[in-house]
Amino acid sequence: MERFVVRPAAPLAGNVEIQGAKNSALKLMAAALLTTGTTRLQAVPDITDVQFMCEVLTAIGAEVGREDDGELVIVTPEVLTPIAPYELVEKMRASFVVLGPLLARHGSARVSLPGGDDFGHRPIDMHLRALTELGATFTTEHGYVEGHCERLVGKEIELEFPSHTATDNVLMAAVTARGSTVIENAAREPEVQDLAEMLTEMGAKISGAGTSRIEIEGVDELHPVSHRTIPDRIEAATFLAAVGLAGGTVTLDGARAEHMDMLLEKLVAMGMEIERIEGGIRASSSDRLRAVDVATLPYPGVATDYKPLLVTMLTVASGVAIASENVFTGRFGYIDELRRMGADITIEGHHAIVRGIDRLSGAPVRARDIRAGAALVLAGLVADGYTEVSGVEHIDRGYEHFVRKLGSLGVDIRCVQGGPRERY
Ligand code: EPU
Repeated sequence: MERFVVRPAAPLAGNVEIQGAKNSALKLMAAALLTTGTTRLQAVPDITDVQFMCEVLTAIGAEVGREDDGELVIVTPEVLTPIAPYELVEKMRASFVVLGPLLARHGSARVSLPGGDDFGHRPIDMHLRALTELGATFTTEHGYVEGHCERLVGKEIELEFPSHTATDNVLMAAVTARGSTVIENAAREPEVQDLAEMLTEMGAKISGAGTSRIEIEGVDELHPVSHRTIPDRIEAATFLAAVGLAGGTVTLDGARAEHMDMLLEKLVAMGMEIERIEGGIRASSSDRLRAVDVATLPYPGVATDYKPLLVTMLTVASGVAIASENVFTGRFGYIDELRRMGADITIEGHHAIVRGIDRLSGAPVRARDIRAGAALVLAGLVADGYTEVSGVEHIDRGYEHFVRKLGSLGVDIRCVQGGPRERY
């Protein structure tokens, strides 16, 4: 069993190249199902979630491979097998995003219902309601959603909440629907804009992506394209949090500050220096962080994915802060692990009250999801002794070369197999 072993670091220094965005790449891959032929995607990160999506596309009938330069090549045939089986969807709920393109392209889809996860209950009702409005009919039995339609028909749809993947699913379903579709209260995430940009390159007619009203004029056919994934703002945030905790100066090559405005404001309020430079972000930290309240919200608010990182920073900041979770109200699983490291955190409803202490205390802890795993590794930067993070397969789902990248900035981290801590 692999674990990451971390020790407190001297101030960090150096440059780190930001990977392509996981939550963009997975949807761009699904979009390849909307056309026949060869789609080429650049900057798709080499992470386990991408491997899972490759397996889903392969099960559906596409051929997927990587070129020597890392480019992901997806060859979509004329005839698809429109089934996303349980074994694959269970590994990665984001694979549910093939539902929209399969209905649009094939007129039917059989996709396993995603289960619950560490964030608590995660329904898919908004996806199904919106696709039903476009003319699809659904039955759910034996753990599968089965959808059918003739050609979908455009409609004005209002989402109850600006769900990220529900917006992706409806967008991909609507691009070849008959007539026009409007998505009101659409998600505004940069990754939704990236998907809309690729669909537009493929021949779709979309306006308003990045705002809460997206308009789509259906076209008869799309063609395959070559597209570059935007940089991963959550990976960038992870390295920013590392600098905030360990101190030092790090340049994030490729990071897009304009995708992270609210987070950068919070980090400055906590005492970090953030410089927007040509082609990236430079971040420095030299003093103890200050406590600042944070509340997660859909984009452009502070992303829920940043919160485990921010809470970890607050555990050693001066003062008391309230971190409120407004997107996934059950997303507090990592807090017990931080408490095992000595953090002073009280949960009240969907608020975490974090009282900063001087240092955490290194301990064996378990990662239960991608971002919580990364946050626990970073906690090790300010924890006396060794911090051993198990469950690293969760971190590998979202972070490319995590250990190598942190190591290159001066973090004392290694990946070990089995055996007690005393060996290291
Ligand atoms: N919701 C519903 N019904 C639905 C869909 C969503 O009630 O049909 C609720 C959810 O339960 C949640 C809220 O709406 O309370 C927002 O969820 P959303 O649908 O926006 O989340 P998601 O699309 O499933 C994506 C990212 C997550 C990220 C969230 C929030 C992908 C593959 N996943 O999930 O990323 O936390 O948006 O920004 O894009 C990660 O990268 O580790 C990750 C979990």
